[in-house]
Amino acid sequence: MSRIAYVNGAYVPTAEAFVHIDDRGYQFADGVYEGVSIRHGKLIDLEPHLDRLWRSMGELQIIAPMERGPMRLVLAEVVRRNRIKDGFLYLQITRGVAPRDHPFPAETPWPAMVVTAKRLNFDASIEKALTKGVAASSQPDIRWGRCDIKSTSLLPNILAKQAAREAGGFEAVMYDKDGYVTEGSSTNIWMVDAEGTLVTRSTSDNILPGITRATVKTIAEELQIKVEERAFTLDEAKDAAEMFLTSSTSCAMPIVTLDGQRIGDGTPGPVAKRLIEAYKAFMDA
Ligand code: PDD
Repeated sequence: MSRIAYVNGAYVPTAEAFVHIDDRGYQFADGVYEGVSIRHGKLIDLEPHLDRLWRSMGELQIIAPMERGPMRLVLAEVVRRNRIKDGFLYLQITRGVAPRDHPFPAETPWPAMVVTAKRLNFDASIEKALTKGVAASSQPDIRWGRCDIKSTSLLPNILAKQAAREAGGFEAVMYDKDGYVTEGSSTNIWMVDAEGTLVTRSTSDNILPGITRATVKTIAEELQIKVEERAFTLDEAKDAAEMFLTSSTSCAMPIVTLDGQRIGDGTPGPVAKRLIEAYKAFMDA
């Protein structure tokens, strides 16, 4: 857990960090967030995360509580005060405090901003990715039509993750009504086909444009691995040579079974392992 949180202009011990009960984030999940990994004290891919945050705020007409320069300073200060070397920074911005009523408040409230940071052991998770991977469970994607916005409205994601955990999976591989894989409940999903081509759903197809996804795509292209952005079905995925997921917290993590069925030989595959090594080098650079 974060020891020190940034809350609306102050750095406070987490036990004393509170938000207003009329905050629209609390009432309606009327807010956006970002999660950024921290490696050797450095925020990984911070600028694309801020680009996505500004886009999410723009789409919901939430005004930025500060400009990017001061925000970078606040984020770095939260990392410093919590003395995090490897970990995860959470940043949430909600529309602010107003009496409960569905439309945007007539008088625009000042947006509420919260930042926390906690430790994560990336070395252990990279080791797990290279040697073991994880199990996944398919779950129907019951979300809305604006999954491109990184909103705090995450109930369908939570339900999918919980159902996956109850089925013995680490992550839910969500699929749309036509049986095509969308993404994970908090990750993007990839497969490697029989020719060694990497396949992942297009970001124009109602998924979150993952920052790790974008970096892994660039790394793959640098390694001259072919990348195809298209929808693929659950059946195609189950027959794939490899599958893996990407996210800021998991980096790239092989999916070795889906619904109990082995993917490839049921161990982390060569393409995923190359990408994991290269992503680690990128984080360590
Ligand atoms: N989740 N898809 C969804 C639905 C997500 O919530 C996330 C991130 C991703 C991966 O995005 P990125 O590579 O930018 O982390 C894909 C974060 C980690 C979370 O909710 O905690």
